[in-house]
Amino acid sequence: MDFTAKHLLFALLISSTKALEPCGFQPDNSDLPVIPIYDKYSPFNQPKPESWVNTIIDMSSKDPTRVKYLSTLAPQKTTAVPIASGLQLPSICNYVVKVKLGTPGQTMFMVLDTSNDIAWAPCSDCTGCSPTTFSPNASSSYGSLGCSLPQCTQVHGLSCPAIGAAACSYNQSYVPPQGLLGLGRGPLSLILQSGSLYSIVFSYCLPSFKSYYFSGSLKLGHVGQPDNIQTTPLLKNPHRPSLYYVNLTGVSVGQVQVPIAPEYLAFNPNPRAGTFIDSGTVVTRFVQPIYQAIRNEFVKQVKGPFTTIGVFETCFDASAEVEAPLITLHFEGLSLKLPMENSFLHTSAGSRACLTIAPVPNNVKAAMNVIANLQQQNHRILFDVANSRLGIAHEACN
Ligand SMILES: *[C@@H]1O[C@H](CO)[C@@H](O)[C@H](O)[C@H]1NC(C)=O
Ligand SMILES: *[C@@H]1O[C@H](CO)[C@@H](O)[C@H](O)[C@H]1NC(C)=O
Ligand SMILES: *[C@@H]1O[C@H](CO)[C@@H](O)[C@H](O)[C@H]1NC(C)=O
Repeated sequence: MDFTAKHLLFALLISSTKALEPCGFQPDNSDLPVIPIYDKYSPFNQPKPESWVNTIIDMSSKDPTRVKYLSTLAPQKTTAVPIASGLQLPSICNYVVKVKLGTPGQTMFMVLDTSNDIAWAPCSDCTGCSPTTFSPNASSSYGSLGCSLPQCTQVHGLSCPAIGAAACSYNQSYVPPQGLLGLGRGPLSLILQSGSLYSIVFSYCLPSFKSYYFSGSLKLGHVGQPDNIQTTPLLKNPHRPSLYYVNLTGVSVGQVQVPIAPEYLAFNPNPRAGTFIDSGTVVTRFVQPIYQAIRNEFVKQVKGPFTTIGVFETCFDASAEVEAPLITLHFEGLSLKLPMENSFLHTSAGSRACLTIAPVPNNVKAAMNVIANLQQQNHRILFDVANSRLGIAHEACN
């Protein structure tokens, strides 16, 4: 479904609400519910899935297109970032955030995406959009941007008319039709533009996809952030300024640190190698040599036979699960031991458990690893962009 969006740059003004949310979740102006798209409270009318494993396999089938897209982001020639150009992001409807936009606030459910800088909201004159649209006319804080301003060029707006003043407008087809809450870190990003309000800090806790009745949270700004949290430095890749790169230094399977040649782990913007954390990819992906090393060690420690189900190549008898080794991701200054629910997924009948990691698709030429949302669920992930660090702590949000 395509729509033509207008007026790109807007401030995210979130007004307070007293409405009681599911589970007593009480949002204020910087603490927002994050809802899995299949959640009962999602407005997008998805029937409750019959089989979670099939649903997750289906969702993850869009990962390769997304990873391919993120790997091919062209290096920028100027400091201006044409974030809207050639935007062909596949549908990434995993999580939506309930926000209020404008003054007074209008409730919108926008797709969460940490690898995109852009914030799109479908407006009331949008064709083919979701039922919840934003009415610019009804917001006193709405303003349009002149077409001759540099920001309009940066977002590849349509050119100004020959005579007279005009607002910046552009023509862009995009999925999802809900609108997008991009929390990437590029120079034109919402997160930088709202720096005076939220200090370039946010965190989220993503609930499990299976938590049909629950919502997690997105916290903007310093208020309510954990102050005692292990962190790892965020790294900057000038070729992909939106992405949150981290320094992955190794991976363990149980007690065994798997042998990985340093070049597959090293962060290097020139061959565009490195590891980033992403809210819109479902299954964590490693370059083939890392993936194979992890899988080989896992297979050594767990009783087979192993089968493949969908994207998961290492499925085993679920009775072996309690003894199966857990995966630990080692980042500079921080080790994340993935709990069982972030490591394995069960088939509907419950008889098979699958190790939930996958290789980067073959057509992705860049050596990049992606830490995806299945592995982040039920953790507080703190993006302290101001201090260039990422924090991770367990938190049950479902
Ligand atoms: C908003 O206001 C403008 C100018 O007053 C008007 O042309 C337009 O039709 C209005 N749009 C909506 C959706 O009410
Ligand atoms: C917007 O793009 C679509 C498809 O590329 C095209 O059909 C349409 O004419 C364009 N509209 C404007 C106003 O440029
Ligand atoms: C990543 O961490 C390792 C180990 O602490 C360090 O030697 C290396 O310089 C770091 N890489 C970057 C790009 O910061």
